[in-house]
Amino acid sequence: MKRLRWTSRTIFLFAAIGSAVGLGNIWRFPYLTYKYGGGAFLIPYLIALFVLGVPLLILEFAIGQKLQKGAIDAFKTVHHRLRGIGFSAIFAGFVVVVYYAVVMAWCLLFFINSFKAELPWAEDAKGYFFNTVLQITDNIGIIGGINWQVFFALLAVWVMIYFSVWRGIKSVGKIVSITMPLPIILLVILFIRAITLDGALTGVYYYLKPDFSALLSSEIWLAAISQIFFTLSLAFGIMVAYASYNEETQDVAADAYTTAIINSAISLFAGFVVFAVIGYMATETGVSVEDAVASGPGLAFVVFPKALSLMPWAPFFSAIFFLTLLSLGIDSAFSLVEAVNTVIVDRSAHIPVEKVAFYVCTLAFVMGIIFTTRAGLYFLDIVDHFITSFGLVLVGIFECIAIGWIYKADKLRKYINSVSGHNTGKWWNYAIKYIIPLALTLLVIIQFFTEIKANYGGYPDWAIAIGWFVVAVPLVIAFALALISKNQEKELINK
Ligand code: PHE
Repeated sequence: MKRLRWTSRTIFLFAAIGSAVGLGNIWRFPYLTYKYGGGAFLIPYLIALFVLGVPLLILEFAIGQKLQKGAIDAFKTVHHRLRGIGFSAIFAGFVVVVYYAVVMAWCLLFFINSFKAELPWAEDAKGYFFNTVLQITDNIGIIGGINWQVFFALLAVWVMIYFSVWRGIKSVGKIVSITMPLPIILLVILFIRAITLDGALTGVYYYLKPDFSALLSSEIWLAAISQIFFTLSLAFGIMVAYASYNEETQDVAADAYTTAIINSAISLFAGFVVFAVIGYMATETGVSVEDAVASGPGLAFVVFPKALSLMPWAPFFSAIFFLTLLSLGIDSAFSLVEAVNTVIVDRSAHIPVEKVAFYVCTLAFVMGIIFTTRAGLYFLDIVDHFITSFGLVLVGIFECIAIGWIYKADKLRKYINSVSGHNTGKWWNYAIKYIIPLALTLLVIIQFFTEIKANYGGYPDWAIAIGWFVVAVPLVIAFALALISKNQEKELINK
């Protein structure tokens, strides 16, 4: 059967960029930049982008496109014992999308509540997020039952995701032509609003002020590396799946550079918006910029809503902001689902895509229910921490070893050069064989000792165990697959 194709190369790029550009660009990146010395963070960030991000993105695009398969079958083709690498990638991706959709559900609730003459969080943004939206319990030990508004918002998000992926890349191709450009346009609107606010420049100054002493700490390098992984959607099998729908002759190197550069440009741009708004808020309320910055949920759902409520036309800009987040998130979310669907459809072509998509979305929704309980944020925090600190990085190491040493980096590089206008030099082999796996191994070791020293976030042991469980399951399955796997082709020959 002939493999499906993207309708054009532009649509493929839209899908890849749509996956890369997500919630990570608007809260994680600006916050990290600020935390690790402003302008100085950009140095390790850009080094990590070109030494690690681009080579790995070229790798993922190249194996998907050359082998014309989703992650599991692609790695199985490399060596029959390596299926588990693809499996681990898909598993990590599935876990991420389960909670990523929950974050989108919060965005949806904020979006809906923006349509009020006065924003309901104007008085007390923190209380609004934690008590009204999440209705959070005192600690993770108290589950507090299901929070139905989050539950139904999550259901709505999954309906949106389902209808984005239900016809496979045919529907994905259509939706990304809206969801990729839309948030960029919205960001430009927000940028113009933000930069013209009083105090905007104070915020921007904090964002970009270089502090070169930060460069000497190892932490900043680790932060830069994991941000690159997350932001380029590497090690989830997404980019492999997406590229597998390309013609085998498409210029993979150019595609990788385009995706990586546009993604980082959007991050930088989003940073201006975020810090201009924070600078404004600091000026209005008299808090210092330092005190106003927060990462993760704090920035998107407390600091920003607060700042929005102070602006003229508050409901309008608030609706625009949450619509931006939703449209940024949706194509990242459905790229994860599509990676899972691709491997299933590859393996069992007789099941229609609609059905596969339906089962995958339903399962992900059901698994997400735990995050809709009143203790949901705690669980989300733990799972996110473990999967991004370990899951991705481990898959990244395996990918490099499998391609660098077993498939042979040079063989893939020859393919890349045979289809690309720009010549990828021998440096790429060294990056894949030595630099990236060594850097990542170091990262995992350091991170491991940090975890051992103290429970992440001060959570109890049983909760931390959930985090380790999520990391361990795919590894165990990957090793089991490697052990029991038989070389079917050889068997056929023997028969
Ligand atoms: N790249 C997305 C972001 O920056 C996050 C993401 C990670 C999406 C993994 C899909 C897979 O938000």
